[in-house]
Amino acid sequence: MEAEEKELTYRYEIIMNFITDLIHKGTLGAGMRAPSLREMATQHKVSITTVQQAYRLLEDRAVLEARPKSGFFVTQYSQVFLEKPGLSTPPNEVVNVEISGRIFDLITYINDPKLVPLGCAIPSTEILASSQLDRFLARTARVNGKKYNIYSEPRGYIDLRVEISRRAMRWGQSLSPDDIAITCGCTEALFIALRTVTNPGDVVAIESPTYFGLLLVLESLGLKTLELPTDASDGIEIEALATALQSKSIKACLFASSYNNPLGCLMSEDKKKAVLDLLIQHDVPLIEDDIYGDIHFGPERPKPFIALNDQADVIYCSSFSKTIAPGYRIGWIATSKHMQKVLKEKFAITLCAPVLLQAALADFLKSGGYDSHLRRIRRSFTDNIDRMTRAINQYFPKNTLISRPSGGFVLWLELSADVDSRQIFSQALQEGICIAPGDMFSTSDNYKNFIRLSCGYPWNEKFEKSIKTLSELVR
Ligand SMILES: Cc1ncc(COP(=O)(O)O)c(C=O)c1O
Repeated sequence: MEAEEKELTYRYEIIMNFITDLIHKGTLGAGMRAPSLREMATQHKVSITTVQQAYRLLEDRAVLEARPKSGFFVTQYSQVFLEKPGLSTPPNEVVNVEISGRIFDLITYINDPKLVPLGCAIPSTEILASSQLDRFLARTARVNGKKYNIYSEPRGYIDLRVEISRRAMRWGQSLSPDDIAITCGCTEALFIALRTVTNPGDVVAIESPTYFGLLLVLESLGLKTLELPTDASDGIEIEALATALQSKSIKACLFASSYNNPLGCLMSEDKKKAVLDLLIQHDVPLIEDDIYGDIHFGPERPKPFIALNDQADVIYCSSFSKTIAPGYRIGWIATSKHMQKVLKEKFAITLCAPVLLQAALADFLKSGGYDSHLRRIRRSFTDNIDRMTRAINQYFPKNTLISRPSGGFVLWLELSADVDSRQIFSQALQEGICIAPGDMFSTSDNYKNFIRLSCGYPWNEKFEKSIKTLSELVR
C-alpha cells in the first residue's frame, strides 16, 4: 500500500515537473493552453485522475488556471515559484480594537517624496487620470462655479448619484440614485455604515488580515472584532463564519467585496452567495467594501455581494480613491433599508461632500472616458504586480511566501518566522524605502513577519533596486 502511494506521488509529480519545465523553457507562455488531460494521460501512460491531480496542484500554486469548458491555462504568475501564504489563523476571540499605535508610524511617511513608495496603497498621479480630471474641474468651475459653491443635500449631488447607479446597473446591481449617498471617501462610508448598524461594544466579524484604516474606524467607534481565518486566494473560511455566527453574538460582518487589502483575494460568486445565505439565516447585516472592484485583472468585474441576493441586508461602500482621485475624497454608500439613518449620520458628521468636486467627477463620468481609463490603469497595475512579483521571486529568500492577487495593486509577503517586519520597516526607511509592516493589518500579533508592498507606481529601475535592497535586509 505504502509503495503504491509513493508510486502515485511520483507519477503526479512527474506531470507537474513536465509542465513547469515547459514553462521554464518558454514552450508554454502565460495565457497558453496546457496540454489536455487526455493528451497528457496518453503521453505519460498515467490515468486522467493523476493528470487532474497534478493540474489541480499547479492551480493551487497559481501556475495554471482552470477555465470552464476550455481546459487549463498558464497564468501570469507561472514563472513564480515562491509559494502562496496559506489560510490565516487569527486567534478565535473577540477583542477590543487598539490599533492606532501601530498605524501612525506609516502615515507619517505617506507623501514623503524622498522615499520609494511601497508603503501606502496610493496609485501614482501618472497612472490616475489626474490631468484629464484637472481639465474637467477647471471647466466645471469656470462654467458653473457659483452654482456649485453651495451645500448640497446630505445625499449628495444628483448627477453623480445617477452616474454611479448607471455603472452599478452593469453588474446587475439595481440601485436608484436615491439609494446612494455621497460620502467623503470610502472611509466615511464605512464609518457611517458601522454607526448605522452597530453600537459601541458590539462585535463585528472581519477578514484577517484586513485594511488598517478599517481597524482604526472600528477602534474609534468603540467596537470589538472577531477576525476570521482568510485564504489568500478565496477569502474567509465559510465554516469559521458559520461557527462564529452560531457561537458568538456578531452584530455585523464587514468584508471586502473583491480583492481584500492586503491579500488581494477574491471569493467566488458561489461563496459570496453562501455567505449571504448564512447572514440571512442569522439576521446579520453585511457591510461590504468594494473600493478595488474596478481593478480586476480578469476579463469580468466581480459582482459585489449587494448584487447577489435581494433578501440580504447589505450596505455597500466604495469610492473613487483607487481609480481616479484620492485627493477629491469622494466615495459613496448604497442601501435602501438604512438610508434615513445614513443621512442622519452624514448630516451630523460632514453635512455633505464638496459639491464642486462631485460635479467635476460627474462631468468626467458622463464624458464616457472612465472605461478606457479603467482599462489603462488595470493594465498598469497588472504589469506592476507582475514585475514586482518576478523581482521578489528573483531576489527574496526561497522560503518567502507571496500572494497572487487577482485584482488591486498590493502584494502580501510572509517572511521567515524569525524576521521582525517592524525592524525591516525602520531599516528600509534608512535606505529610502517605505513599506507597510504586517502588524498594522490585524489586532493580533500574527503578522509580525509579514509585509505589504504597494505596486501603485509604474515599474522602473528604482523599484527593482529597492526590492533587491529589501531582500538583503530580510536576509
Ligand atoms: C480596503 C480599503 N478601504 C477603504 C480605503 C479608504 O478609502 P478612501 O480613501 O476612499 O477613504 C482604503 C484605502 O487604502 C482601502 O484600501
